Amino acid sequence: MAIVTTLSAPSIQTKLPGPKARALIERDLRVVSQHYHRDYPLVVEEASGLVVTDPDGNRFLDFAAGIAVCATGHCHPDVVAAIRAQAGKLLHMCPTDFYTGPVVELAERLAAVAPVGENPRVFFTNSGAEAVESAIKLARLRTGRQKIVAFFGAFHGRTMGAATLTASKAVQRRGYGPMLPEVHHSYYAQCYRCPVNREPQTCDVECLDHLETLFHTVAPPDEIAAIIVEPIQGEGGYYVPKKEFLTRLAATAKKHGILLVADEVQAGMGRTGKMFASEHFGIEPDIITLAKGLASGMPLAAVIARDEVMTWNSGGHGSTYGGNAVSCAAAIATLDLLEKGLVENSADVGAYLFSKLESLKGRHSQIIGDVRGLGLMLVIDLLDPKLVDAVLVGAFERGLLLLGCGDSAVRLTPPLVVTTEQADTAIEILDKVLATL
Ligand SMILES: Cc1ncc(COP(=O)(O)O)c(C=O)c1O
Repeated sequence: MAIVTTLSAPSIQTKLPGPKARALIERDLRVVSQHYHRDYPLVVEEASGLVVTDPDGNRFLDFAAGIAVCATGHCHPDVVAAIRAQAGKLLHMCPTDFYTGPVVELAERLAAVAPVGENPRVFFTNSGAEAVESAIKLARLRTGRQKIVAFFGAFHGRTMGAATLTASKAVQRRGYGPMLPEVHHSYYAQCYRCPVNREPQTCDVECLDHLETLFHTVAPPDEIAAIIVEPIQGEGGYYVPKKEFLTRLAATAKKHGILLVADEVQAGMGRTGKMFASEHFGIEPDIITLAKGLASGMPLAAVIARDEVMTWNSGGHGSTYGGNAVSCAAAIATLDLLEKGLVENSADVGAYLFSKLESLKGRHSQIIGDVRGLGLMLVIDLLDPKLVDAVLVGAFERGLLLLGCGDSAVRLTPPLVVTTEQADTAIEILDKVLATL
């Protein structure tokens, strides 16, 4: 896979943050809401491929990709060209009231590949959380039922409905209640929060027994509109369930007339080595939500469902910006690149990186407890959660951008254009960082 930029990384020239970066951080401190937890003081001036440059000229190798967003790498020339061409023709014409070519073309392209069954339709919105809100509303409308089941460890977004489904960290809901009523949580496969308290990896589909308990106690299945599940749990720790967990879940939902919503906001668009993560498990959800990788960094999200499921009342739901012409053009260019080899690259380099991480675990078995993930959605889980910050900061100081995940993991989610050489560089840096702990 061709590297988009000719610049190499890492290249660290100053103490971090450098003087120009520090000046910007000071301005940020004065006027920007300070509730974000930044793991390290990176200021980004420009980026290309996997190379991120700060205002002092330091270059970093990006294994974070804007939290798994920049699927085609930063500023991929094809995506930038598509954005430029569209911006010169039409920026916006609200799809709630008018028809535009980019909306129709992108819907056709997504409908052709989404594993939701016959006659898919697409509804566009702006963010993952909004796509999830849309899925909640659609499921309630379609079934005439109110209850929704989500999973412990799940992350579905920050708006009130999505935040109610989210059950990853208490801070994400503390102080915001009352939350949306009629939402129940069950246990996710292989999750360390499992009440059976098994070791991760040995925990099995018994997690679904808890769902049966919910059915028999507080949430009769004939009152449940939807079960929403991340095919691979993202923010909660990159947990990959056994195939049976999802196939049994899908069968249970079908049996009770419950809609199965696969939240593929993070795992979709080639991130896991297939276009949709659901494909790894052979499930056909009723509704799929997409966002992050969809438009390579432009704001766009989608809800995809079969024609017989996507039954909004006319005027009953909408979004002014959803399906913005420029974002759709970026998404069409993104899909072109994914279909021309990037999904395959995600699978290939992902498998390579996974094996390197396994070796790293062998060399640092007193620090790394687990390696998990699929494709380029990978984590190393640390035995001591307190070491996560040290790994992130140590990597940053050596020019590698990483993010935390769950309670004790460090995630590696490079753009899907990553090469094996760049994977080797990331592993070398991680190796050095772990050796200092
Ligand atoms: C699985 C999943 N769903 C929903 C969201 C929310 O997306 P957004 O931040 O675009 O609202 C995220 C964000 O990380 C996510 O990972």
